[in-house]
Amino acid sequence: MKVLIIGTGGRENALAWKISKSKNIDKIYMAKGNGGSQDFATNVDISPTDIDGLLDFAKKEKIDLTVVGPEDPLCAGIVDKFKENNLKIFGPDKACARFEGSKEFTKKFLEKYNIPTAKYKSFIDYDSAKNSLEEFSYPLVIKADGLCLGKGVFICQDKKEALESLEKIFIDKIFKDQGKKVVIEEFLKGFEASLLCIVSNNKLFPLQTCKDHKQIFDGNMGPNTGGVGTYSPGDKFSQKTEEEIRKILKGIEIGFNKEKISYYGILFIGFMIENDIPKVLEFNVRFGDPETEVLMPRLKGDLLEIMMKTLDNTLSEDDIKWKDEVSLTTILCSGGYPNSYQKGKEITGLDKVDGDVIIFHNGTVKKDGKYYTDGGRVLSVTSLGKDLIEARKKVYKNIEKINFQDMYYRKDIGLI
Ligand code: AMP
Ligand code: GLY
Repeated sequence: MKVLIIGTGGRENALAWKISKSKNIDKIYMAKGNGGSQDFATNVDISPTDIDGLLDFAKKEKIDLTVVGPEDPLCAGIVDKFKENNLKIFGPDKACARFEGSKEFTKKFLEKYNIPTAKYKSFIDYDSAKNSLEEFSYPLVIKADGLCLGKGVFICQDKKEALESLEKIFIDKIFKDQGKKVVIEEFLKGFEASLLCIVSNNKLFPLQTCKDHKQIFDGNMGPNTGGVGTYSPGDKFSQKTEEEIRKILKGIEIGFNKEKISYYGILFIGFMIENDIPKVLEFNVRFGDPETEVLMPRLKGDLLEIMMKTLDNTLSEDDIKWKDEVSLTTILCSGGYPNSYQKGKEITGLDKVDGDVIIFHNGTVKKDGKYYTDGGRVLSVTSLGKDLIEARKKVYKNIEKINFQDMYYRKDIGLI
């Protein structure tokens, strides 16, 4: 089979790495891929948001399956377009992608189907949002409704910060149309857990859990990023939490069916768990990054087969099996990320990394056989181990062999 993977990051590299091991794979293309994807795929210079260009390519090359990494093309309706052209594509259609494209849409769904989540209100103008601040206590959370590259969430400690955030969104319009609406919600305490589910016509197949680390500095300090370290399985849930999560998944399935949508692809559920009670923080409609980098090395089954069965409605729980080992990823970042950073720094030492450590490239380019940084998140150093301690040890030992100017990474992944 010929597979086209859309995206440019570590998530897409991890998917390509796993699909390259599938028994039916003949060729993998990546649009656009990056420096590392050339190890198992052919990079194609078409942007992930150029839906017409991707469609033409898939038709011309007779692609058997297209896999969509990022949310933008999903929200823009790439799945609908490919399906109209009788092309197989893994991901939700435009109607289902609203679960990531609009925070208000998701909050309304969660409320309608009694799925636990933070209390919220939504607003379309500065004055009404400002006037309602009195109804919330601090900290509170202000979120731009639309897609904001993971930067649309403000945790505000007091009224001054809340007003500043509202001004940025409504008056300075820093998120343009994606900030036309704002959701203000109660701040939830607890610990976070990510659960990705494969969804086949509204039926949820949960994958193993992951623990993401979003803040840039050790001790979960500093600004949020897309995620700079992960391990899987995540924190062990109590029996009570597991029961509650099962109820939530059932509630989501019931909701999807009642809304008369047909969800296919991935539903990524972010939970906040306090006193054993999980509440839904958000939905994403795609694989997580860096969650995929730790899930793929643990997945025993054939990913291509799993995806095809998902689309054919023949997937069963037995198709999704896991290694007992723990996996851990630490991301090497460009100094300055998530704020401004420089690109184009030569990366050295990749050839010295141990054979049992996997390096997924998040943001690199390859020129004349050398690798250079090309993003804020640069490389995911990943390893499996019999436990978190062993996986962590292998990752950090190998990080010491890699270098580029201003390289920065968290030292505490697996300890916190
Ligand atoms: P989201 O994009 O909605 O996941 O938000 C990004 C991050 O902001 C989450 O991973 C949480 O760490 C934090 N966050 C979002 N909503 C809340 C909330 N209601 N209470 C506490 N933290 C939140
Ligand atoms: N790691 C979080 C995300 O992919 O949204």
